Amino acid sequence: MSQVLVASNRGPVSFSLSDDGALTMRRGGGGLVSGLAGVTGGADAPEVLWVCAALGDGDRAAARRAPDGRLDQAGHDLGGAAVRMLDIPAATFQRAYNAVANSTLWFVHHLLYDTPNAPHFDARSRRDWQSYEAYNAAFADALARDAAPGAKAAIQDYHLSLAPRMLRDRRPDLKIVHFSHTPWAPPEYFRLLPDDIGEQVLDGVLGADHAAFLSERWAEAFVDCCAALLPGVKIDRAARTVSRGGHTTGIGVHGLGVDGAALRRRAAEPDVVARAQALREQVGDRRLIVRIDRTELSKNIVRGLAAYRELLVNHPEWRGRVAHLAFAYPSRYDLPEYRAYTAAVERMAARISEEFGTPDWDPLILQVNDDYPRSLAAFGLADVLLVNPIRDGMNLVAKEGPVVSERGCALVLSREAGAAAELADDALLVNPYDVSQTAEALHQALLMPDDERAARCERLAAAATALPPQRWFADQLAALD
Ligand code: G6P
Repeated sequence: MSQVLVASNRGPVSFSLSDDGALTMRRGGGGLVSGLAGVTGGADAPEVLWVCAALGDGDRAAARRAPDGRLDQAGHDLGGAAVRMLDIPAATFQRAYNAVANSTLWFVHHLLYDTPNAPHFDARSRRDWQSYEAYNAAFADALARDAAPGAKAAIQDYHLSLAPRMLRDRRPDLKIVHFSHTPWAPPEYFRLLPDDIGEQVLDGVLGADHAAFLSERWAEAFVDCCAALLPGVKIDRAARTVSRGGHTTGIGVHGLGVDGAALRRRAAEPDVVARAQALREQVGDRRLIVRIDRTELSKNIVRGLAAYRELLVNHPEWRGRVAHLAFAYPSRYDLPEYRAYTAAVERMAARISEEFGTPDWDPLILQVNDDYPRSLAAFGLADVLLVNPIRDGMNLVAKEGPVVSERGCALVLSREAGAAAELADDALLVNPYDVSQTAEALHQALLMPDDERAARCERLAAAATALPPQRWFADQLAALD
């Protein structure tokens, strides 16, 4: 039987530990979990092992209790995949995940540094980097140990950019794909990393046989970085390959879409219907502008709220006739930048409510507690969906919204999201830094005639479901053959 290994920081399941020591397992969401369904099941399905980090006390307890850390039962919902959770020392994990992956690499790929917050690479960054190397090596060791001869390994994202090279060094017989779920920085920005670190990141990804990205732009940026910053590299743009040190890496673009049927089924369940009723009671028959994000600097929530404010200033006819539902869910709260950003979002929201609110009109409803069925309910009701990231690998909100929409929603979409390449024909594209343009796009979206909105939404939903996760993942594995 063939074998597929998946490696990612966050695994497909997580465990919580209760006071009496009992463990409860929860299945995670995301494209990769759905994508696995495309390769599991069926007579000739490969054996699947998913290697991830143990992220909390529950995960660590589960890993310790399982023989050799391998949770063979965990994959019941995952078509029988086994899960191995790596118990990485807390200090190593925190430096690799917070200091390097989320504070440095994420900021570089999303162009998030500003002058007061410019990076400062010093002795402490070196220590953090060594932890990132150790974290990547822990994954490479586990994969090398568990892989059957000739197995395929699918390594995910910026947390694990060194692991492909490390795994190739340990097991040259394996076929490796690295998938970047984020954008990739252009060379002028990427080179703010210390030279040797930048080189290690690029060379790490080139350890894969196939380096895959969500959109053409990010794939090109990666190749541009290799061309500009890696000595001794050979690039064949027509064949889409990068060669170095006798090894050739194919470059691929695999856009991730949504599983339309599964999403619509979920959106029809009673918990979603109940929340839709509650939301409708709250906003009445007003027009609804919806945004749903993790509270993340790249999501550009503050400028989005500012655009809504400008809409109310410039087009006072909407006052009392529109409501904005802004769901900003918690994310990476260990990082001070994220805590400060959450506070900025709350301040901006409070300012709008104070400035425009009346006894019978709440212009803005900000929700910060994560509630997936409420998100689906809001998608169902939206007249306008606002998705305005500064930069985003793909952005699945832009795809899920039109699929779940009941009467058809207009999509105001940042041109800097990977999804813009696929949805440009029917979305209203905006420059995410241009608050006035975004405000005007919201106005146009609200004015759009019902039939036009419904027709555009239908085409957006078709584009959003064109490449469901199952195919997306199967295509990456096929690229290794
Ligand atoms: C977003 C990104 C992914 C990334 C994930 C990590 O979803 O699109 O590229 O892997 O964040 O989030 P986490 O909560 O694990 O830090």
